[in-house]
Amino acid sequence: MDLKQYIREIPDYPEKGVNFKDITTLLKDGDAFKAVVDQVCSHFEGRGITKVVSLESRGFIVGGALAYHLEAGFVPARKKGKLPAETIEQTYELEYGTDTIEVHLDALCEDDVVLIHDDLLATGGTALAALKLVQKMKVKQVFFSFICDLKFIENGNKALLDEYETHSVVTY
Ligand code: PRP
Ligand code: MG
Repeated sequence: MDLKQYIREIPDYPEKGVNFKDITTLLKDGDAFKAVVDQVCSHFEGRGITKVVSLESRGFIVGGALAYHLEAGFVPARKKGKLPAETIEQTYELEYGTDTIEVHLDALCEDDVVLIHDDLLATGGTALAALKLVQKMKVKQVFFSFICDLKFIENGNKALLDEYETHSVVTY
């Protein structure tokens, strides 16, 4: 199944020159959605993953399914101010300004083997922020999973992610 064919490209969205990768066309197809989840789970099966950490908001869609199939817990990394209990936070750079994500302080522990999942790896800013957050909780091991990896974007963030095993369903 060529999953790339299910991802719609929208030219000049959200701004001129950006070719937006729209995964809603993949998600709405039951066979394609299942193929994504099955592919990621078969890659990471047997690795002892105890927690899937996924990123608000698009990361949540597949992240929950991965946690279910890997028989792992699900930990939401949310935009600042959304989680009710005590959190740790990480701020990261956007093209214009900064953003902050948080996880609950009691969400992870030193015994956890973590799969960080998001829909898209673009500049790597979001993924690197998630990595810094889980590292603050001194987890045992970290893996990454993305639906789309925009490999044509190369920068220092992504170089820092290189040492972690990463699975991407589709690359550009
Ligand atoms: C998008 C996407 C990834 C992130 C990737 O999320 O869903 O999380 O950007 O970009 P990066 O690698 O350059 O950090 P966005 O912050 O737009 O929010 P959303 O998931 O709520 O749509
Ligand atoms: Mg996102």
